[in-house]
Amino acid sequence: MVEPEAGSLVGQAVAFVRQYHREQPAAGDEAVRVRQVLAEIERTGSYRHTPQELAFGARVAWRNAARCIGRLYWRSLVVRDLRHLDGPEEIARECFEHLRLAGNGGRIRPVVSVFAPDGPDGPGPRIENPQLIRYAGHRQPDGGRIGDPATAELTDLARDLGWKGGQEPFEVLPLLVTGRGELRPRWYELPEDTTLEVELRHPEHAWFAELGLRWYAVPAISDMVLEIGGVRYPAAPFNGWYMGTEIGARNLADADRYDQLPVIAEHLGLDTSSERTLWRDRALIELNLAVLHSFQEAGVTMADHHTESDRFLRHIAQEARLGRPTPADWSWIVPPVSGGLTPVYHRYYDPVDPELRPAFLPRTG
Ligand code: ARG
Repeated sequence: MVEPEAGSLVGQAVAFVRQYHREQPAAGDEAVRVRQVLAEIERTGSYRHTPQELAFGARVAWRNAARCIGRLYWRSLVVRDLRHLDGPEEIARECFEHLRLAGNGGRIRPVVSVFAPDGPDGPGPRIENPQLIRYAGHRQPDGGRIGDPATAELTDLARDLGWKGGQEPFEVLPLLVTGRGELRPRWYELPEDTTLEVELRHPEHAWFAELGLRWYAVPAISDMVLEIGGVRYPAAPFNGWYMGTEIGARNLADADRYDQLPVIAEHLGLDTSSERTLWRDRALIELNLAVLHSFQEAGVTMADHHTESDRFLRHIAQEARLGRPTPADWSWIVPPVSGGLTPVYHRYYDPVDPELRPAFLPRTG
C-alpha cells in the first residue's frame, strides 16, 4: 500500500489501526481492518471505530495526557459508547448517569462518555461547561464576586439562557449542551443525586467548618476533544478522582479563585504583616489537611500528592518496561505544595509531543 499522508484522515486512521493491532495482537487481522477503514472513508468521508477500538483509543488518550499525574490506572478507564447520541436532552441525561457511575457512592471510578463525533457533514454536539460539575461565579454590580471567579463567563451565559442563579458561593451550574446542528446551548439543572459533595472540616480546628467550604467529589472535564485515528469526538467528558492539592492548593487557595488563605490565616492567629512569617504557607498546609481529612471521613476517593507522585513514577517504570516513553509536562506534574518533598520534582521527563494521538485536546474556538 502507498503510505498515506501523515496528517490526513486516512493517514491518522491507518496509524491508529496499526497501533491498535500492535498493542492488541489478538484483535484480528490488521490488513483486513485497514482495507475496510480505507474503503469506508472513500465511500462516506469518515469511518466508525469498533467499540473495542473506541475503548482502546480513549484509554490511550488518557495514557498520552502529559499533564496528568494519575495515569497509572489508564487501563481501568470505563468507556461508555454513546456515539448514537447527538441531541442536548439525551446528552444531558447521560452526563448525569456518568456522574452517578463515576461517583459510585464515593468510590470514584474513572469514566469517559463518548457522544457523537464530528463528521463530514458538520460538527458534533458539545458541552459548554469546562467540567460537568462546576460552581457558579457571579459578578456583583460593585465589582465583587460570589462563587468561583473561574466560571464568570459561563455563569453569564447560563443566566442569558434563562437560568436563575441564587448567588450562593457553592452553587452548581446547570449543564449547557449544544446539540448537533444547533446554534444555542440548552441548559439542564443537575439532579441532586449526581452532585456528591464534601463539606470541609479540619481534624483539629473546630472553627474551620464554620467557613462553610465544600467541594464536589468528581472532577469531570467536559470541554476537551477526544481525537482517535483522525476522528474527533467533541463531547467526551471524562473523570478521574481528585488529588487533594487541586482543591486545597488551587481552587480554594488561588487569589483569583476562592482566595481562602487570608481568612484561614486570621483564624489561625497568624501574623500576616510580612511574607517572612510564612503565614500563607502555614494556612495552605492546614487547608490541604482539611481537604484530605474531610474526603477521607466522607468515604470519597482522593489521593494525596505524596502517594500520587509515587504511583506516577511506578507508571513511568511500567511503561518503560513495555518500551514506551511517558511524555510529561513537569510544570503540571509537580504538585503545587511541597513539590520538592515528592519524587516527581527531582527529575525530567520524556518530551511532550503535541502530535501524539490518540489524545484529549483543548477545544479551539
Ligand atoms: N484541576 C481540576 C479541578 O480542580 C481538575 C482536573 C482533573 N483532575 C483530576 N484529578 N482528574 O477541578
